[in-house]
Amino acid sequence: MKSPSTSRFVRLPSLFNVLGGSCVALAAVVSGCTSDDPPAASGGVIDAGAEPDADSGVPQVGTPIPAEPQRPGDPEKGYTALVTGGYVSCGIPYSAYSAAFGPAPEELRLPGRTGKNADLPYYYTAFTAPSGVEVVSANCLLCHAGTIDGKLVVGLGDSTGDFTTNPSNQAELAGLLISDPAEKAEWRKWADRIKAIAPHVQTTTVGVNPADNLAAALFAHRDRETLAWSDEPLLALPPTYAVPVDVPPWWRMAKKNAMFYIAGGRGDHARIMMAASTLCTDSVAEAQAIDAYFPDVAAFIASIPSPKYSGAIDAPLAERGRGVFEATCSRCHGTYGDGASYPNLVIPLDEVGTDPTLAVGEAQFANVYTEWFNGSFYGEIARLEPQQGFVAPPLDGVWATAPYLHNGSVPTIAALLDSASRPAYWTRTFDTNDYDHVALGWNHTALPAGKDAEPDEQAKKKIYDTTQLGYSNGGHIYGDPLGPDDRAAVIEYLKTL
Ligand code: HEC
Ligand code: HEC
Repeated sequence: MKSPSTSRFVRLPSLFNVLGGSCVALAAVVSGCTSDDPPAASGGVIDAGAEPDADSGVPQVGTPIPAEPQRPGDPEKGYTALVTGGYVSCGIPYSAYSAAFGPAPEELRLPGRTGKNADLPYYYTAFTAPSGVEVVSANCLLCHAGTIDGKLVVGLGDSTGDFTTNPSNQAELAGLLISDPAEKAEWRKWADRIKAIAPHVQTTTVGVNPADNLAAALFAHRDRETLAWSDEPLLALPPTYAVPVDVPPWWRMAKKNAMFYIAGGRGDHARIMMAASTLCTDSVAEAQAIDAYFPDVAAFIASIPSPKYSGAIDAPLAERGRGVFEATCSRCHGTYGDGASYPNLVIPLDEVGTDPTLAVGEAQFANVYTEWFNGSFYGEIARLEPQQGFVAPPLDGVWATAPYLHNGSVPTIAALLDSASRPAYWTRTFDTNDYDHVALGWNHTALPAGKDAEPDEQAKKKIYDTTQLGYSNGGHIYGDPLGPDDRAAVIEYLKTL
């Protein structure tokens, strides 16, 4: 029997049902980069830092992001909506799904789901589409749940997803399983949407996510006033090269005043999150119905605790590390424990020096797309406001969120804090038990050369090649001045967050 965990037959194409939202995000691909052969990355710009503050001697950098009012919601209702709601609005008919797949294995099921959802894998939801056809589609957890320490954690970004193949052919094949005309029509709608976005949502590398390159493609196909779908794009389409992004953990939203790595999601967070359903939400009335319960989903997301580190912690060493962290890192990342504080800062690109491609804004952040969003139903109470910088994220549960930086270019925290030790080319097993408790992150193999030197297509996709556009591991050199002992102490302290 085929199981969803071993076959991408439905999983990959279906995920594009949901893609629409996350990608509202923002990001950016360098314009003109439309070939399959990406140009080499320019690399992060390293800057020594800003002028020291006259009073403290500590360099002051960054722009604070102000808090904005959020609609209140009920976290419990939000969880139920998240894992049973039909917010994606279209999908593959249940009959075709069940013909291909049996019940999911126990470890892939979610607690608290009933009916047809009870034995679906966590990343799928069965619901009745507006056409009356019962369908299955991917939900937010396709990207926003992951396994660490052998446990499925809702809200952990999935760092093992494979978005390297074109899902369109598989979506077409699914149609062969369907004969009923109403089901056929439902499938056709879904398969056509996938076909429209497929060229824009493929990455070169397993583990990174193309979500940020999708919004532009969806916006381009949709009337800004009515949200009606147009097969012909109404705006210019974005480049086909998807800038890589490491899916962030949801628990950060409890502290963050803006959504997304470049702080582009402003105003009402629930309204931005619900835009994840834009693939098949074809009218303002449908969008309003989903929006009515998304404050609950946002409240659930803001209520998720970070997972506690499960290994042993050397408490005196961690305490020493706290001192080093507070002297070196807290001005950007805040303090933790009693009296915790979080400054919500955007750090300019030339200060942090990490790969700028996501933030430079030639695709999703091009005015044409932010204007679409801001002038649409979504923009009524929310805004996309791309920044030329990156948010210094809260570091709660950071032990579980490898690989590091917004593009997932650094496999461990030890390597993040000692930039000379970061591998230029590396690969990993993508087994989430293959964890390095000393360096804090994924066990990995550094390679002497990048993708070009690997003839095997499957092995090539698993190589993280930091010379590719958007994949640079430069910048964030704040750990470099620390000696090995202080770095080890900071790592021990980070385990306690
Ligand atoms: C295909 C993968 C994918 C799906 C499906 C997806 N997301 Fe995301 N999501 C991402 C990625 C990647 C980012 C980071 C984008 C960025 O910051 O540039 C993100 C960012 C977010 C953030 C902001 C986190 C932060 O720290 O700023 C929230 C909240 C979020 N998504 C909620 C949702 C919700 C709710 C859904 C379902 C309705 C959803 N996402 C569906 C990939 C996905
Ligand atoms: C000047 C501000 C600043 C200072 C100082 C700073 N950081 Fe950061 N840090 C950032 C920014 C901005 C990012 C996000 C960069 C990106 O994703 O491209 C980041 C990202 C990180 C991440 C990656 C989080 C993830 O999940 O990918 C870790 C871990 C981290 N910092 C730890 C530290 C530690 C430890 C120190 C002190 C030695 C430190 N930082 C000092 C601004 C700072």
